[in-house]
Amino acid sequence: MSGGDDSSANMLVEELTDAQAETELQRLTEEITHHDALYYADDAPEITDADYDALRQRNEAIEARFPGLIRPDSPSQRVGAAPSEQFAKVTHTVPMLSLGNAFSGDDVRDFVDRVRRFFKKGEANEAAFTAEPKIDGLSISLRYERGKLVLAATRGDGATGENVTANVRTIPDIPHVLSGANVPDVFEVRGEIFMRHEDFAELNAAQEAAGKQTYVNPRNTAAGSLRQLDPSVTASRKLHFFGYAWGEVSALPADTQMGVIEAMQKWGVPTNPLTRLCHTVDELITAHADFETERSALGYDIDGVVYKVDRLDLQERLGFVSRAPRWAIAHKFPAERATTILKGIEIQVGRTGSLTPVAKLEPVTVGGVVVQNATLHNEDEIARKGVRIGDTVVIQRAGDVIPQVLSVIEEKRPKDLKPFEFPKVCPACGSHAVREIHPKTGREDVVRRCTGGLICPAQAVERLKHFVSRNAYDIEGLGSKQVEAFYEEGRVMRPADIFTLEVRNARTDKPLQGKEGWGDQSVANLFAAINERRAISLDRFIYALGVRHIGETTARLLARSYGTFDALRVAMIAASDHESSAYEELNNIDGIGQVVADAIIEFFAEDHNIEVLDALLQEVTPEPFLVEETSSPVTGKTVVFTGSMERLSRSEAKVMAERYGAKVAGSVSSKTDYLVAGEAAGSKLKKAQELGVQVLSEDDWFRLVGEE
Ligand code: IVH
Repeated sequence: MSGGDDSSANMLVEELTDAQAETELQRLTEEITHHDALYYADDAPEITDADYDALRQRNEAIEARFPGLIRPDSPSQRVGAAPSEQFAKVTHTVPMLSLGNAFSGDDVRDFVDRVRRFFKKGEANEAAFTAEPKIDGLSISLRYERGKLVLAATRGDGATGENVTANVRTIPDIPHVLSGANVPDVFEVRGEIFMRHEDFAELNAAQEAAGKQTYVNPRNTAAGSLRQLDPSVTASRKLHFFGYAWGEVSALPADTQMGVIEAMQKWGVPTNPLTRLCHTVDELITAHADFETERSALGYDIDGVVYKVDRLDLQERLGFVSRAPRWAIAHKFPAERATTILKGIEIQVGRTGSLTPVAKLEPVTVGGVVVQNATLHNEDEIARKGVRIGDTVVIQRAGDVIPQVLSVIEEKRPKDLKPFEFPKVCPACGSHAVREIHPKTGREDVVRRCTGGLICPAQAVERLKHFVSRNAYDIEGLGSKQVEAFYEEGRVMRPADIFTLEVRNARTDKPLQGKEGWGDQSVANLFAAINERRAISLDRFIYALGVRHIGETTARLLARSYGTFDALRVAMIAASDHESSAYEELNNIDGIGQVVADAIIEFFAEDHNIEVLDALLQEVTPEPFLVEETSSPVTGKTVVFTGSMERLSRSEAKVMAERYGAKVAGSVSSKTDYLVAGEAAGSKLKKAQELGVQVLSEDDWFRLVGEE
């Protein structure tokens, strides 16, 4: 009789022959996989939980008796499967943002002041804030349509995440249907998925018993658990959820943060019971102290407290700065510390040539994470702390920031340790490394920099890493590791080379496909990802160039101000003449100071940069900056505000103008389109009248943008 006998399904495990066991294991794998799909993906199970459990138990019993027959695709083998690259992308209709941080009571005071000052005097003096724990998990967006869970997506880069719906459906905390009254047609619940300490410990105990690798911390494990191709693995991980925000909604159930959270709770979404309403800075700080006291007894990781402006109309008026709301902030808990031995100091060369000393440490666990490297900041800090190689040092780790060396325990210093001598030449290229003198203050810069510029391989690699980084080109399959390897092999020496890689790869006798870690498919995927980026938004393009002092916000500002890359370039070349109107215009952009202005002008004045840039522009096209789709009568116009206004503080006026696509300038010139003049407008009004610039009253302004 062959093994393919149906009757083996009814036999006792002890009576199975090898061949029958093999058939039976195949049948069980197929059946369990089928039921997993019905249960998790389609939400339509065909068998009872007990019957399902029986299938899994039988599978395990047979495997225990015939360990040689365990199938690689067996349900028992799926725990710990590698995270997949195969989740579909989801574009968030409302971006998923991050939060600004506060580290002290003073930071919290500043935050509250900033919020209150944003509004006209008296308007927001009484405005309340919510305070709630900041959960150390991973954020997720849950889209409900007519009350039904239709999509779950990870945060990703904030704009696009991954569709993990099937996995999320396995989390018991997350309702598949919102119940109760007044559930809006569309409601995206945003919140945090996390793992409790006890479940994490249990999982690790099981891993250990099975001789498998243990997991590092609950947060990473929760994240890994969600990115499993097999939902039954996610299901086995016991994840939890708290809702604390929302994305796209067809209607809001309340006009305060607290009110919406309470409504979500009524619909069946778990929300954090510790959330409370505060009216003063002191109450916020008390909440922080209370949560910190409760922290160790909560049973899950929190890393701070989040404060949010309670009134939603105020939240909306405050809006956002780049990636974080102005109406919320995360007040972090103090960092955790540990002591260990400093084994060495490595000097790393950054993108702009900065030499950063990195402490190489005897591995030590700080706040649940093993730390082996920490920053020593710079030359002066090493001297100030008196750090010597061989010392026992105190290190600190806070959240996602790089661990740092805080101090030396001098009593523990072995004899004969020598003070550390900071190198005066670049360890990567041997060029002189110097500390620049600040043109204005005349003081020496704390950072020592390699003067090798483009001949320095370390700088070149760091620039390439920056070029492909998440907020720049963000090419899937081309991260820091790959860039480093490609540089070493001579495949990619400058940005343009990324885009000629495919053509060159077809001709070379050392194609990528032959390298470890690369196969036909992954190489094809890489080229597809690269080609997808041949057109890129202007702000990302500017940011990717890695000009000193130009971060994302400034890059956006430049993109918005100049509109196209050609316009920017022409203007920056003209601006090298400090008497030119181009120079004045650049400095007049609200948010661009002299340091930034000089840095970008210098970039365009350097021939090497132009060469690299032109080679790149042969391959890619920066797209003209699109002002928000809804164009308004002031889109693209330059506006100056002056005098004191009735309804708007200066900060709110600026944010409002930008929301309508206008550029805000600090002074009046021939480029100004409108001067909005409040009470007691002075010299700016006079200048506008001289230049024939259109002058608006505050009411005119509101009418112009259509707010009345
Ligand atoms: S509110 C627009 N509340 O922290 C505001 N975030 O550092 C959205 N997080 O990406 C965030 N607990 O993943 C908010 N109670 C809480 C939170 C929380 C954890 C995470 C969230 C966010 C990150 C920002």
